[in-house]
Parts: sequence; structure tokens; C-alpha cells
Amino acid sequence: MNRLEGHAALVTGSTSGIGRGVAEAMAREGAIVIVTGLGPESGARIVDGIVAEGGVAHFVEADLSAGGSEIRRLAQEATALAGRPIDILVNNAAFLVPPHPMTESTEEQIDKVLEVNVKAPYLLTAALVPAMVEHGGGSVINMGSIGGVDGIKFTSLYGASKAGLHSLTRSWAAELAADGVRVNTVAPGPTLTEGNEDLRPLLEKLAEGNPDRRTGTVQDTAAAVIFLASDEASHIHGVLLPVDGGALAT
Ligand SMILES: NC(=O)c1ccc[n+]([C@@H]2O[C@H](COP(=O)([O-])OP(=O)(O)OC[C@H]3O[C@@H](n4cnc5c(N)ncnc54)[C@H](OP(=O)(O)O)[C@@H]3O)[C@@H](O)[C@H]2O)c1
Repeated sequence: MNRLEGHAALVTGSTSGIGRGVAEAMAREGAIVIVTGLGPESGARIVDGIVAEGGVAHFVEADLSAGGSEIRRLAQEATALAGRPIDILVNNAAFLVPPHPMTESTEEQIDKVLEVNVKAPYLLTAALVPAMVEHGGGSVINMGSIGGVDGIKFTSLYGASKAGLHSLTRSWAAELAADGVRVNTVAPGPTLTEGNEDLRPLLEKLAEGNPDRRTGTVQDTAAAVIFLASDEASHIHGVLLPVDGGALAT
């Protein structure tokens, strides 16, 4: 299928895990894809893989914790490489800290989690929305988490950042819909990726409580993102779509 033909997508955190899967799936659907992250080697490998399959992709190295000028540079370089306005933005990158008691979070951890998970999506979306509006609209998908909905012990910092992102989705959806920009959240549950194989026992234990009793896959989440980015979702604004085996339903 070519549901994203004629579109240009920027997927943050696409050098690994879920973001990589989203970038590859979007390229297969015909989008020009901008891969971004911290790792140039993995970025180049993922771009090469997409191109080898007949897709179009480019890599921009950027540190989302480095503040506004770095984020605006990312937006500009992504647009220049795509050769057209970015009209799909997936705010997927996240800074993850291992689970720990809230009394042990350091101020540095608090700042970095909020910088990468909330401030960076805010600034990047603000940098790209004007061109989306000028060229007839676009779609922003924020990668949330069931951890931003449920109270899960030892992950309060991460959960707060995801709840903040969920809130931005709803406010931006209300603010930008009239200008043709749709904003939605995809909220995965425990999801196995090539980068978190070491967490398999923990993720599988967490998923035991899911109604469908399995962990999610990168493909499960990518399919939801593609749907929300596509014209099939043209009347969908501000939703939180869980990809969690029913966890939030119980
Ligand atoms: N996996 C799960 O079980 C799960 C469940 C719910 C929600 N999620 C959400 O899904 C998203 C992806 O998770 P994942 O499991 O795929 O994680 P991951 O494999 O660790 O990927 C995180 C990505 O974010 C990038 N990143 C981190 N800090 C960055 C920074 N300062 N600047 C630029 N890029 C940065 C990383 O880049 P480099 O690789 O280049 O360092 C990497 O590409 C996250 O938003 C996460 O919260 C995941």
C-alpha cells in the first residue's frame, strides 16, 4: 500500500526500537522519511536499509536535550533534505531512566526527562507547524505510554513526562484542527524491540496482566501510527490510541 505517498515524515528517535519501525513502515507506505537520533552509525544503517528496499530516507543527527537552536536546526535540515515541507511529525524519542523510588530521582534526571520527553516535542512541533499550516495541513503523532495514564510505582518521572505529552496532544488538537493539523497520541504498553531484549523478562511479566497476555511488537505500534498519519484518520483529532493488549481497558 502507499497510504503516505506525497508526504514527508520526520520521526524522532528513529535510530532504534519503535521509532525505527515507524520510520521503516512509513517509507514502505511511500513517505519521504527523515530519520533522526544521536547515533550516526545506526542512522546511516537504517537509511541504507530503507533505500535498499526502494524507499526514500535521510538522516539528521540531533540532540533533543540541547535546546531550541538545535531543535530548529533539525527542523530546517529535515525540511531541506525532504525537499518539501514536513507534514508528518512523530515525536517518538524519549529519555528513559531505570525504575527507581521517587526519593532517589536526581535533579539532572528530572531535567533531562522533561527536556527530551516534553520540551523537545513542544519546540519541534512549534518549529514545523507553521509550514504545515501554510501547505494545507499535517499530522503530529506523539508517542505516549500507558505509563502516562496508569500510576506505576518507580516510574513516576517517566509517567509524568508522558502524561504531559498526552496533555499537549489534546491542547494542540483543539488549537490546530481548524488549520488542518491533526494531533494524536499512540500509547504503547510493554513492547519488545531489538534494543530492549535484556528487559524481556520484565516486559513479559508486565504483559502477563494484559487481557491478550502478550507483549507488543514494534509492528503493532507502527501500524497504529501509520493509520493516524494517513487520510483514513482525517476526522480523528486528540485521541489517545492505546496499543497495549487491552491493559488500559481493565
Ligand atoms: N518499548 C516499550 O515498551 C515502550 C512502551 C511504552 C512507550 N514507549 C515509548 O516509545 C518510544 C520509543 O521507545 P523505544 O522502546 O523504542 O526506546 P529506544 O529504543 O530506547 O529508543 C529511544 C530513541 O530516542 C532517541 N533519543 C534518546 N535521547 C535522545 C536525545 N537526547 N536526542 C535525540 N534522540 C534521543 C534514541 O536515539 P539513539 O538511539 O541515537 O541514542 C532512540 O532512537 C518512547 O517514547 C517510549 O517512551 C515504549
